Amino acid sequence: MKIGNLTLEGFAALAPMAGVADRAFRELCMSFGAGYCVSEMVSSKGIAYHSKKSAELMEISPMEHPCAVQIFGTEPETMADAARFSLQYRPDVIDINMGCPAPKIAGGGSGAALMKDPALCGRIVKAVSDAVDIPVTVKIRSGFDGEHINAVEVARIAEDNGAAAITVHGRTREQFYAPPVNYDIIRDVKRAVQIPVIGNGDVADALSAKHLYEYTGVDYIMIGRGALGNPWVFREVNAYLSEGRLLPKPDLDEKLDVLSRHITGVVEYKGERVGMREARKHTAYYLKGFKNAAKLRNLAFSMETLDDLKRLIDAIRTST
Ligand SMILES: Cc1cc2nc3c(=O)[nH]c(=O)nc-3n(C[C@H](O)[C@H](O)[C@H](O)COP(=O)(O)O)c2cc1C
Repeated sequence: MKIGNLTLEGFAALAPMAGVADRAFRELCMSFGAGYCVSEMVSSKGIAYHSKKSAELMEISPMEHPCAVQIFGTEPETMADAARFSLQYRPDVIDINMGCPAPKIAGGGSGAALMKDPALCGRIVKAVSDAVDIPVTVKIRSGFDGEHINAVEVARIAEDNGAAAITVHGRTREQFYAPPVNYDIIRDVKRAVQIPVIGNGDVADALSAKHLYEYTGVDYIMIGRGALGNPWVFREVNAYLSEGRLLPKPDLDEKLDVLSRHITGVVEYKGERVGMREARKHTAYYLKGFKNAAKLRNLAFSMETLDDLKRLIDAIRTST
């Protein structure tokens, strides 16, 4: 799979997820065989105003490559300036967000709301592609709502205006993350454009990864929620799609070791005070399916320090 001149290894990318797929989580997923990852979305206006938060979101560590910086906004020139500015963080790709459903984003005309104006999508892709000499990609949904399923039209316009690949999440903005996911529209986009297409939506394991590939014919896939508390999913997908091997789930020791690596990484990048607050939600994902999960989650949600994490891990060992 290639995006422009960039080769992606493996079979699946980690999807951009604001608030969860931060640097520490992206590094972890890449260490388990994700072939590509995308930053949390960054506001083009925030970049224009030199916001500290935007700068932090664009930081990429050496273990994360190949990695895209994802930007959102509505104004072609502001988006082009943001893309140019982001190059100092050495992304391999600039990805344009045309899929975020959140009222804060789509309500202002950005994210998934852009799909209501395909011509504007084209102008944004063109402005950004002209501004940088690395590949520019677009992440879209199936459409804005059930009456406006226009992913094929938007994908063609993006291709005509310089996009090097397209990711399609098979849901409308109106659906947010609710079922069902529409793989037919992903297949239709794949058939309609020459550039590579990345399929996205509801992949959670090796078998669902294979199904998305086979049903749609896409060139690559992207996994979001299915990687939360489950970063080894990339190892499972790679083993199955390359050799047909269904790997067993990691044992408790490995799971706890991964949890510890994950949270230590978050604290390294964000400091213990902020990092441990954020660690609570990450930890909760790992606890899914554990015996006494509700009790353990309560412990997780009171963590303040890395020592608290050690205590939680001891509690998990004794209760499992
Ligand atoms: C918490 C969360 C945050 C997300 N943030 C972004 C984002 O910043 N940019 C983006 O393009 N998509 C974002 N998404 C959408 C995902 O990238 C993905 O398209 C969606 O979750 C469907 O894939 P999945 O079924 O594998 O999770 C987010 C999704 C979630 C659950």
